[in-house]
Amino acid sequence: MPHERNKDPKNISRRQFLRDAGIVVGGTAVGSAFILTACGEEKEITKTVTKTDTVTTTAPGTTVTQTATETATKYVCPVCNEEFDSLDELKNHFESEHPDDKEIKDELDRVVTYTVNGHQYVLQVDPQETLHDVLREKCGYLSLKDMCTGWGACGSCTVIVEGKPILGCMALAREFDGANMETSEGLAQKKHPLIDTYVKHYTMQCGYCTPGFIVTSKALLDMNPNPTVEDIRDKLAGNLCRCGTYPQHIPAVQEAAEILQQGGE
Ligand code: FES
Ligand code: FES
Repeated sequence: MPHERNKDPKNISRRQFLRDAGIVVGGTAVGSAFILTACGEEKEITKTVTKTDTVTTTAPGTTVTQTATETATKYVCPVCNEEFDSLDELKNHFESEHPDDKEIKDELDRVVTYTVNGHQYVLQVDPQETLHDVLREKCGYLSLKDMCTGWGACGSCTVIVEGKPILGCMALAREFDGANMETSEGLAQKKHPLIDTYVKHYTMQCGYCTPGFIVTSKALLDMNPNPTVEDIRDKLAGNLCRCGTYPQHIPAVQEAAEILQQGGE
């Protein structure tokens, strides 16, 4: 039986709600991320620090003042409030300084960081959660689909992780702490040529499978900028299309390859 998803939202406990909601999203610096202490108190474990540098240069007759502002995320120990530059440093600190606080340690162990399409996320994930579920339901990347109900058979949940296409439904979210990921949303934002060539060559009908094909094709072009028809067929073999658009993917990928080779976008 496929794994269970979308449990009745009315049945969710306050603890579960806070766990899932206290998780967060950001730009270059992440927003707030919370964990729960044993007594149910929420503790913030991230904070955004803004640093402003002002440089004044003077030349005869002129004075120029320039201001640069940088934001960064600090990770804060929920017990002693000490600040760290990374989640790993915070976890190491907690293990050495607060080894008896098992409940908070368990909560901290569930926290992971991802970079998705250039955005940083700090998330609490459960051991059984898949990357597909977390990226879709907690980060909001709806391009990840689920055509085969999580059986690893269709490729519609494909996401690029550290340059390689992987099936999000077959990957446990916890195993990707610190990973860099790309989804179709990121490729559309960057105006990757595949987006236009997929439209131009009528590579979709209902479009449900399309994001999975596009990210797989993108990973292929990154690894092999000049793929043959056989290369394309081979790499896209794990992506299924119920509408039967298969022949159209070949020219779409080939044209995107040409555009990229000419240095175009
Ligand atoms: S939903 Fe992952 S392969 Fe089908
Ligand atoms: S375009 Fe409909 S499933 Fe592929």
